[in-house]
Amino acid sequence: MTDTSFNFTPLLAPNLPAPGFKWGGQYPPYNFTGGHNAPEEVPVDDLIAAATRALTKDGVTLSTYFQASGFLGYLPLREFLVRKLKASAGMECTADEILLTSGSLQGIDLVNQILLEPGDTVIFEEATYAGCLSRYASAGVTPISIPLDTNSDGTGGMRMDKLEEALIACAQKGVRPKYIYVIPTVQNPTATIMSEARRRELIDLAAKYGVPIFEDECYSDLIWPNDNNEVERPPAIYAMDKSRSTIHIGSFSKSIAPALRVGYVVADWEVLAQMVGCKSDAGSPALDQMVLAEYCSEHFDAHVTKLNTAFKKRLDALVAALEENFGTAAEFTVPPGGMFLWIKLPAEVDTSVLAAKAMAAGISINAGADWSYEMEDASRYFRVCYANPSTQVIREGIAKLAEICSKEFGVPTRIANVESE
Ligand SMILES: Cc1ncc(COP(=O)(O)O)c(C=O)c1O
Repeated sequence: MTDTSFNFTPLLAPNLPAPGFKWGGQYPPYNFTGGHNAPEEVPVDDLIAAATRALTKDGVTLSTYFQASGFLGYLPLREFLVRKLKASAGMECTADEILLTSGSLQGIDLVNQILLEPGDTVIFEEATYAGCLSRYASAGVTPISIPLDTNSDGTGGMRMDKLEEALIACAQKGVRPKYIYVIPTVQNPTATIMSEARRRELIDLAAKYGVPIFEDECYSDLIWPNDNNEVERPPAIYAMDKSRSTIHIGSFSKSIAPALRVGYVVADWEVLAQMVGCKSDAGSPALDQMVLAEYCSEHFDAHVTKLNTAFKKRLDALVAALEENFGTAAEFTVPPGGMFLWIKLPAEVDTSVLAAKAMAAGISINAGADWSYEMEDASRYFRVCYANPSTQVIREGIAKLAEICSKEFGVPTRIANVESE
């Protein structure tokens, strides 16, 4: 029932995206989609203390849109990022080369806004972040997807032989792609980490064909430590690319909490200035940035170490549940970090159908078709996000998923050692 007779429909602008839906804020009981964090890993007490300190120190600066920090966002948080990005990813940048955004999604939108026009060509990984795929579809660009590989040690990523073929084909047609979008450090969805040697090849190929690199490091804090409790990762492409043709984005969504909506773009000022010109929202929420600046300068490293331990425990539970319930029917490489697992099922399974059947039973998974573009065997893959559900929910959910899959497609033929009918 509606209490207004006014009809907006004939007034709506053309070509709007599909309408949103009202939603009660309930996730399905077995929620294996979305980059959500574990509720008990949100550092609530320390965030409360940080909020008190931040407001005491700088609360009065909320009286102006851009506080005393200017258009780029709260300066102490940008200064924290300068230190963090140097220490963790080898990046040399100044606070004036960092733009704080409302999640890294806004960074993606700003990069697309300054670079893309309908008809442009963009290059990206064949399996990639669905948020980018939907943006490419609505931007009217010509997508070129490049095959990925995954090695047993968790390295891999965009294949450079295939990238070179694509760049040559573009050059032959007189097409200069607008950028190469990559998620090199904990790729979404495969969770591979691109080796330093391959990053070098990528930089060289991009330079040869005059194409910028768009580096998304959204998950790069989520890497399991080695036996000495140290995290080893290659430098960011931004750090290695001396031609400075790389635009880098990152986020606090995965390391602290997605609902904070704080991300960032790092780029040369010439490029960043164009994004600042497009960022017409009068600033991203300042309180979130203030609290993070206060919290992160003291706690970030210890928090991330604890977070990764919790995520690894969940991954172990997921791997055990898959082995128990799917047996050899589920193929995957145990990843070196992250919050999701990319799983391949036998050819008779269509994971889009499986996802719909599972959803009806309260289990959400991401079907491979939604997470890829022109990828061979996409319908055999699905993504499971394991950071948010408890180990018990993971065990139960995977057992139920195997039952549904077995009923629908006849695989797995054995579930937890019991032959299916
Ligand atoms: C690869 C990648 N980039 C960017 C984002 C956007 O994250 P946020 O806007 O929360 O920073 C996501 C979210 O899942 C992602 O997977």
